[in-house]
Amino acid sequence: MGMHKKRADHYPRIDAFDFRPGKPLRGRYEIVHRLGAGWESEVYLIRERATGIERTAKFFFPHRNEREKASIFYAKKLHKLRQCPIVIQYYLQDSIIHHGVPVTFLVSEFVEGELLSTFLARQPGKRLSPFQAVHLLHALATGMEAIHQLGEYHGDLHSDNIIVQRYGLGFELKLLDMFHWGASSAQHIHDDVINLIRLFYDAIGGAKHYARQPAAVKAICCGLKRSLILRKFKTAGQLRRHLETLEWS
Ligand SMILES: Nc1ncnc2c1ncn2[C@@H]1O[C@H](COP(=O)(O)OP(=O)(O)O)[C@@H](O)[C@H]1O
Ligand SMILES: [Mg+2]
Repeated sequence: MGMHKKRADHYPRIDAFDFRPGKPLRGRYEIVHRLGAGWESEVYLIRERATGIERTAKFFFPHRNEREKASIFYAKKLHKLRQCPIVIQYYLQDSIIHHGVPVTFLVSEFVEGELLSTFLARQPGKRLSPFQAVHLLHALATGMEAIHQLGEYHGDLHSDNIIVQRYGLGFELKLLDMFHWGASSAQHIHDDVINLIRLFYDAIGGAKHYARQPAAVKAICCGLKRSLILRKFKTAGQLRRHLETLEWS
């Protein structure tokens, strides 16, 4: 009992930091404005005072970062994946005291663009054509292939964790926010593949439009049946190769 009480005191529940523009950070940076928030953190655009260079700082909610587990995991994973073009560039870890509570933040590159969820919501009918969506899935699968080749997984692939940097003939994307489910395993990599297919399925309109999709689309989605999908695609690389040779009949 005593243990639990102590831990709860030590990791108070903060759901929003609400930092004001101009707030100094460790004398070296200042807050520009808030970029977004999620389950474990609030993310701000910051500026390095000496250079004017903009970065992103991810401030972990203390109750989501007990013993710094989440932030250390995330920093190490970003560093391990630093050669993967789809992964944001990590720079440094630091902390501030906020209302008497230590708060850890990670500084990484600022990715200019639009969340995939926002991008999809403003498309006609809030969905992509199958052909556009195949391009989206190809960019995701290519990016994820590099991660799977290093034996790693993302763990939290959904449309609020993907930034569309540019969209033209194809997509340029960055991934945010990996989740730590424990040591990497085939199961975690399979979960990424399932989530990629799920993103594709949702991007073309989900269940409502599935029956009328072309055969090539159904051959990718497999009705979202996990066992059928994994029989075809065990890694992002296998999915990428399938997309590069598919034909619309
Ligand atoms: N590098 C970045 N560049 C621009 N926006 C970002 C960046 N990182 C995070 N964001 C914004 O902040 C939100 C929360 O960040 P995220 O890392 O997903 O935190 P959480 O783990 O709390 O979900 C994202 O959905 C996005 O809107
Ligand atoms: Mg997130």
